[in-house]
Amino acid sequence: MLWLKNARVIDPAQGVAGIMDLAARDGRVLSVGRDIAAGLPDGETAEVIDCAGKYLFPGLVDVHVHLREPGQEEKEDITSGSRAAVRGGVTSLLCMANTEPVIDNQALTALVADRGRRAALARIYPLAAVTKGMAGAELTEMAELKASGAKGFSDDGRGVQNGEIMRLALEYAKLTGCPIVSHCEDAALAGGGVMRRGRASAARGLIGIPGAAESVMAARDVLLAGETGGRLHLAHVSTQGTLAALRAGKAAGWDITAEVNPHHLILTDEDVPLTNSNFKVNPPLPTAEDRDALLAALADGLIDMLASDHAPHTWEEKARPFAEAPFGMTALETALAAVWTYLVRPGKLTAARLIDAYSRRPAERFGLEAGTLKPGAPADMILFDPDWEETVSADNMASKSANTPFLGRRLRGYPIKTWVGGRLVFDRLAQPPV
Ligand code: DOR
Ligand code: ZN
Repeated sequence: MLWLKNARVIDPAQGVAGIMDLAARDGRVLSVGRDIAAGLPDGETAEVIDCAGKYLFPGLVDVHVHLREPGQEEKEDITSGSRAAVRGGVTSLLCMANTEPVIDNQALTALVADRGRRAALARIYPLAAVTKGMAGAELTEMAELKASGAKGFSDDGRGVQNGEIMRLALEYAKLTGCPIVSHCEDAALAGGGVMRRGRASAARGLIGIPGAAESVMAARDVLLAGETGGRLHLAHVSTQGTLAALRAGKAAGWDITAEVNPHHLILTDEDVPLTNSNFKVNPPLPTAEDRDALLAALADGLIDMLASDHAPHTWEEKARPFAEAPFGMTALETALAAVWTYLVRPGKLTAARLIDAYSRRPAERFGLEAGTLKPGAPADMILFDPDWEETVSADNMASKSANTPFLGRRLRGYPIKTWVGGRLVFDRLAQPPV
């Protein structure tokens, strides 16, 4: 038995926040509360950990991760990505289908799920593609893909340009009960842009992507979700236009959720250096006005959840000139620390809302058994030290790639132990690391 004492437990699913003990046995939470010793089985030996001054959170559930396997293992693979996940406090994740080849058939979906189980760190669930080869023309066999382990469907990396294909996808996905995860990007509007269009792109002489490239497709997909009754999840929301569409769709009672990524809450287009393509991401870093609106929407629940959009790329690719480097940032190992440092610590977001948005709500939306420390739940949890400081460095990352804009920054507030199913899978204090 594992007995964690005097932790500051935050578990929004139970409406719990306070100093408590938690006991876990056989991979599951046994009890949680203020004085649980009386209820524990007699004569059992327990590993006791004093957690005074630390938080105990349910493990994070990250619905937007690029693990790059199969096909791009030089950037990341399922094992390295799983290690990065548990270092960042992520105990369950959904991985994207834009691999090589694309995860659009049963064999590949099952393979990814199986390799995730074999890595035996975080719980890995595949999202399968919406269209074959992500070519945007022909739908995948969604019911079969679900039977092979897919938890949802997404062509993330590009938008589904054809509205009729998206309408059909939302219609068919109803039969599976799974969400369609939309990367909202109108390719014609996005043009060849490399950062957000506006004052900052003009000042740098870089081609801009107008906010409308995202908002227009978000509005379309919201309306299609309304018309079909399908389940829609908007990935990486980054504009006020998308927020307007989301607000209208939710007010109408349609089955829509949305996520925002930490970088879109912390950085803006003004932060983009011409010489550092680690700031190049799609959708691009927002204007300050959009960034503020995104934060307000996350705080008040219009945006349901946080997700990292961990998108590893090799050093060589990111060393190209800004306009030619690929879009994407790594984030699994920094997401929680960055949000804590830049949002929770200065009082812009509460710890309870952070855990609600990065654990409870994503688990609920995608039907995962996770996101809570209720008795009987899997003992997926993180011990979090709000004062642990580290400088973000390529040297101490588990990911194969280190293309994060936070390199060199000192972040404060890190997970120090991560358990999955009651098993310690990461210990920041151990040498060599667990
Ligand atoms: O920046 C991004 N990188 N945005 C995406 O939509 C795809 C991702 C990737 O796969 O690298
Ligand atoms: Zn995307």
